[in-house]
Amino acid sequence: MPLRKIVFPTAGLGTRFLPATKASPKEMLTIVDKPLIQYGVEEALAAGLDQIVMVTGRGKRAIEDHFDISAELEKNLRQAGKEELYEKVSRISRMANISYVRQKQPLGLGHAVACAAHWVGDKSFAVALADELIISDVPAMQQLRTVHEQTGASVIGLRQMPAEELSHYGVVDTVEENGLLRLKHMVEKPQPDEAPSNLASIGRYIFTPRLMALLHDAAPGRGGEIQLTDAIATLAREEPVYGVLIEGERFDAGNPLGFLMANTALGLNHPDYGSPLLDFIRQRL
Ligand code: G1P
Repeated sequence: MPLRKIVFPTAGLGTRFLPATKASPKEMLTIVDKPLIQYGVEEALAAGLDQIVMVTGRGKRAIEDHFDISAELEKNLRQAGKEELYEKVSRISRMANISYVRQKQPLGLGHAVACAAHWVGDKSFAVALADELIISDVPAMQQLRTVHEQTGASVIGLRQMPAEELSHYGVVDTVEENGLLRLKHMVEKPQPDEAPSNLASIGRYIFTPRLMALLHDAAPGRGGEIQLTDAIATLAREEPVYGVLIEGERFDAGNPLGFLMANTALGLNHPDYGSPLLDFIRQRL
């Protein structure tokens, strides 16, 4: 069975973006002209992951509406002869088959993923965190998929980070094995002197179904939350888990500075806005 399922945890409270996220989901914040979550979905689809579940929570209705048919808007655009806009808007609702499950309490990323256990069933599945925006020739999820197809094992996306940033991420300890990086251990948000390496996980994962069983039995970890990282560390003791250094440009769009950088970089690359934006920036230097 080819890998087709992907889980997007989207129930997070978005506290780093308050007050912007008081009444709207952080996944709907816009990078140039599309909400963050749409970049994630497009990356998944480009990697052949076309069965999507979003784990949502209170106040996340806008995500469902975004991927739904907007009959009135589509009719208005057609009647006004705005064919190009109509195509852009209607394409979103045709783009993917998306299901939604609800995480009723904010009990952690691991708990959010576990909320999709019934939907995932007994097959391998992917997980993506949409606030990690990765722009690359080969979609980040495809980079993981290639190693998963070679090994049949779980694979997580990694990136080298400066020492002072490691305490924001899950950090791994690895050993080289047949040209691949095999995980020995993983620590969630370590203190600088506890980080086992400078390799951090950047929100792209493929898991064997065993991960769901481990999440089901997981005890609360850092911050009293069910941590995905703790289940990955246990999984790595039971079976091979590989790390892949993701190629491409990556933005931590889950915090305001990274978000501004993503908007600037993608804005500068945009065929219509790039050149005037560059002029504007130059004028201000
Ligand atoms: C989560 C994970 C962490 C991972 C990070 C990537 O943390 O818990 O292991 O490195 O995403 O962005 P969060 O940013 O949700 O606190």
